[in-house]
Amino acid sequence: MTTTATADRFSDIKTATLAHLEHHGCGCYPYSDGSLLATLTAAAKATTVVELGTALGYSAAWFASTGAHVHTIDRDPTHSRRAQDHLARHHLADRITLHTGEGTDILPKLDLTGADVAFFDGYPPTTAAIGALAAALRPGGLLIAGNMTLGGQAHDIRAQLAAWQHTDLGETLLAVKPAPR
Ligand SMILES: C[S@@+](CC[C@H](N)C(=O)[O-])C[C@H]1O[C@@H](n2cnc3c(N)ncnc32)[C@H](O)[C@@H]1O
Repeated sequence: MTTTATADRFSDIKTATLAHLEHHGCGCYPYSDGSLLATLTAAAKATTVVELGTALGYSAAWFASTGAHVHTIDRDPTHSRRAQDHLARHHLADRITLHTGEGTDILPKLDLTGADVAFFDGYPPTTAAIGALAAALRPGGLLIAGNMTLGGQAHDIRAQLAAWQHTDLGETLLAVKPAPR
């Protein structure tokens, strides 16, 4: 059987992000597979996505390409500004709300208790950030936690989500928020 890699329709943002991090030294690596994020979002029939870790907008563009509205957060104002430019060029700006600040400060203020998908792509992984994203998700919503091989509190996050239906893909952990008892 022959397989072909899915074309990356946002490869320009990925390329710009890789070029940016060389100069900025910020470690804002783009997520490895944007089409996976979009496929999971489409399968969940998501209308609202919340993301911690905008960088230059690569993963946000993939989420928004499904038709969902994306709330994305980054603490670096340079990243948010660059993301705004990229997303406008792809005509996605009206589907994405950019928030600049620390994820754990911004998330509770968004008052998003019904997001369908929540994505962690910050660094380092912390239980506080995962907790804030989990609070923004509806029961049955999908949490996608990236950077889980990069240390931080990844071990504790796995314990935090142990009771959720989950699968551990190494770099990425997928977990479904349980219904309240
Ligand atoms: C790995 S990059 C995100 C890559 C992006 N999702 C993409 O696919 O291109 C991490 C980004 O998260 C931001 N960040 C990391 N920890 C954060 C936090 N606790 N709160 C807000 N932003 C954070 C960094 O400034 C950086 O831009």
